[in-house]
Amino acid sequence: MGGLTYIDFLAKFGIGGAHPGGFGLTKYILSKENITNNSWVLDAGCGTGQTAAYIYEQYKAKVFGLDINPIMLEKAATRFKNLNFPIQLIQGSVEQIPFEDHTFDYVLSESVLAFVNKPKALKEFYRVLKKGGRLIANEMTLNSVLNKFEEQEIKNFYNVDSLYLEKDWITLLQDTGFQSINVSSQQVDFLYGNNKQEFNFSPNFEPELFEVLNKHGHMLIKYHNILSHRIFTCTK
Ligand SMILES: C[S@@+](CC[C@H](N)C(=O)[O-])C[C@H]1O[C@@H](n2cnc3c(N)ncnc32)[C@H](O)[C@@H]1O
Repeated sequence: MGGLTYIDFLAKFGIGGAHPGGFGLTKYILSKENITNNSWVLDAGCGTGQTAAYIYEQYKAKVFGLDINPIMLEKAATRFKNLNFPIQLIQGSVEQIPFEDHTFDYVLSESVLAFVNKPKALKEFYRVLKKGGRLIANEMTLNSVLNKFEEQEIKNFYNVDSLYLEKDWITLLQDTGFQSINVSSQQVDFLYGNNKQEFNFSPNFEPELFEVLNKHGHMLIKYHNILSHRIFTCTK
């Protein structure tokens, strides 16, 4: 696959809602929170900005999008410009967030922690949240332990340094200092209507990216009982 990663595929295909449960699940999760036009919200690892745009549209909150990938950021910027939405985009890493302590009421991580140094990024989320602020994370989670070969296959394909069971996430959230940790594995697309997959293709993307897409599909089928996700909500 010529060194192309799953994230390269997501960026060049411009996949919106690139997380388990998709945009429908995002809307459902957000509807359970008390986001207002006074809320400061960080969409950490915002990708092409579908969720950030929705949060501004729905709540008129003060929304910031952070991502490390320039293609993602360019597509998010175009989206916000076309919609005339005042969402600030910042290029940077969730492992070293370029914001002061106690800045945000909400930090959102939709399939982002899975791809980074988890303890480091969670510490940063905790640091930039205000006291009483909320972390909402929808992240890849194993339903059961894998053998070494299977674990390595998944780590290699998704380019991740570790795979967590639900209990590992909870321990790490607790160790970071988060409280009132709630976990769910909800799938609610059907409740939130028409949420067709969004694409925004880059011109002249590498045809090898179709191989990445195929392999992703293959992994989802092969590990369908094990490779899952959880939604974690918790408070600083
Ligand atoms: C699976 S995508 C999810 C994108 C978006 N949250 C969504 O749900 O559509 C993971 C995102 O995390 C970003 N990312 C990966 N490592 C990152 C890092 N260290 N700091 C910030 N963003 C990162 C990728 O560029 C990508 O946009």
